[in-house]
Amino acid sequence: MKRVASIMPLDADPALAIPAAADVREPAPAPALFSLRDVDLHYGRVRALHGVDLSIHAGERVALVGTNGSGKSTLLRVLHGLLAPTSGTVSCLPRNRQALVFQRPHMLRTSVRNNVALGLWLRGMGWRQARQSAVDALARVDMAELAGRNAKALSGGQQQRVALAQAWAMDADALLLDEPTANLDPHAKREVEALMQEFAQPRSGRTMTMVFSSHNLGQVKRLASRVVYLERGRVLADLPVHAFFNGPLPEEAGLFVKGEKI
Ligand SMILES: Nc1ncnc2c1ncn2[C@@H]1O[C@H](COP(=O)(O)OP(=O)(O)OP(=O)(O)O)[C@@H](O)[C@H]1O
Ligand SMILES: [Mg+2]
Repeated sequence: MKRVASIMPLDADPALAIPAAADVREPAPAPALFSLRDVDLHYGRVRALHGVDLSIHAGERVALVGTNGSGKSTLLRVLHGLLAPTSGTVSCLPRNRQALVFQRPHMLRTSVRNNVALGLWLRGMGWRQARQSAVDALARVDMAELAGRNAKALSGGQQQRVALAQAWAMDADALLLDEPTANLDPHAKREVEALMQEFAQPRSGRTMTMVFSSHNLGQVKRLASRVVYLERGRVLADLPVHAFFNGPLPEEAGLFVKGEKI
């Protein structure tokens, strides 16, 4: 093919020069930390997730909402790599770069300090450093005084704080939480929420990405930057938090927000 010579060399007058293609391109979006494409997940005959497409980027705070059984916990387990999809594709952060905090964290029958340290040791940290990191992280969640107590004997709110200390000590890039305040009294709820808020702040130039499920729409408004509404395993709305609460929404999601669907 014949090449057409340019009329004027592009570098003749810098003011007129057309920038090379690389200079005018939009900066490439950061790669997604989590990316699900057309994901289905079946438990036997129950289809818990249905054609889920979802990409989550660094620094987002994503709330998963929906009625009981809509698939929130299942989706969190898929994001964490605990469940493999029946079909579709999933690409996620490696497990050691993300922490999952359950509604009722599992505590081992040993000291609070050991509970946190063991989690770090299992991820390959030396024991001495794991113990020290555990002590630092427990201080971070205001649990230093209880470090020697049997973790099994802690209250629900205290156990939740230990689980958050563990996530903090891991220095994870993403924190996944499944209804982290569901069984807590209002005081403990506020404390755990405040910690989530602090964790979401940038640390050493990095921002923790957070994905959490919640039935508490006030909490969603306070903590989330984006809301994903699930209904029978399908994503029916995926919007910035302001747009989600100020509509318009698909009918089912609208009823849910109004509290007419629980
Ligand atoms: N281990 C399991 N075996 C069989 N079915 C399951 C299992 N876990 C969940 N399910 C089913 O999968 C669907 C999604 O459940 P999931 O726990 O993800 O919902 P959820 O949105 O977290 O609900 P909730 O608000 O009650 O916590 C439901 O129909 C549920 O009954
Ligand atoms: Mg659940």
